[in-house]
Amino acid sequence: MRDIETIMRTAPVIPVLVVHDVATAIPMAEALVAGGLPVLEVTLRTDCALEVIREMRQVDGAIVGAGTVSSTADLDKALDAGSEFIVSPGLTDTLGQAAIANDVPFLPGIANAGDIMRGMELGLAHFKFFPAMANGGVPALKALTGPFGNARFCPTGGIKPDNAQDWLALDQVLCVGGSWIVPGGAFDASVVQANAEAAAKIG
Ligand code: 3PG
Repeated sequence: MRDIETIMRTAPVIPVLVVHDVATAIPMAEALVAGGLPVLEVTLRTDCALEVIREMRQVDGAIVGAGTVSSTADLDKALDAGSEFIVSPGLTDTLGQAAIANDVPFLPGIANAGDIMRGMELGLAHFKFFPAMANGGVPALKALTGPFGNARFCPTGGIKPDNAQDWLALDQVLCVGGSWIVPGGAFDASVVQANAEAAAKIG
């Protein structure tokens, strides 16, 4: 199994996916992998999300994880669907301990120093800075990297093609996450692949 640092270093951008139609799962994953973004975060925000994870796992080269995992029940379902990594919007001791006990790569959300310290007490060093722009943007994360030099981050929330580079310029930022790669509305594989190709070149 890949560790979370390896997953974060695979590509500069992790597409955050909200998939409403399971029929689009495989062509979507194929377009993203072809575009150079193989790490896929399928958020558990739609009824078909677990089925989407199962489908995307069949795509060669895809590294498929579950996002919006906010309870141990979500974690169990995500693992059962074959998730290769787990992203959470936040961090609780219960969820952190369960993820560690399952030995699954885990990227919990943090928003402040206390959150990072709670993660470090659990033995974690890789965090999603969320919601990145609303939390103060690059200056806020830069300030947090001072006391926590060993922590590594994936900022997510409000990140777009025109600001992703500013985040990736921070040494402790290994990748960013964002939903812009797969826009809402009707799925168009050529648009998704083009967005992925552009995003894969950032950084
Ligand atoms: C997430 O869950 O990481 C965010 O909802 C993604 O944020 P974005 O839609 O602003 O990219």
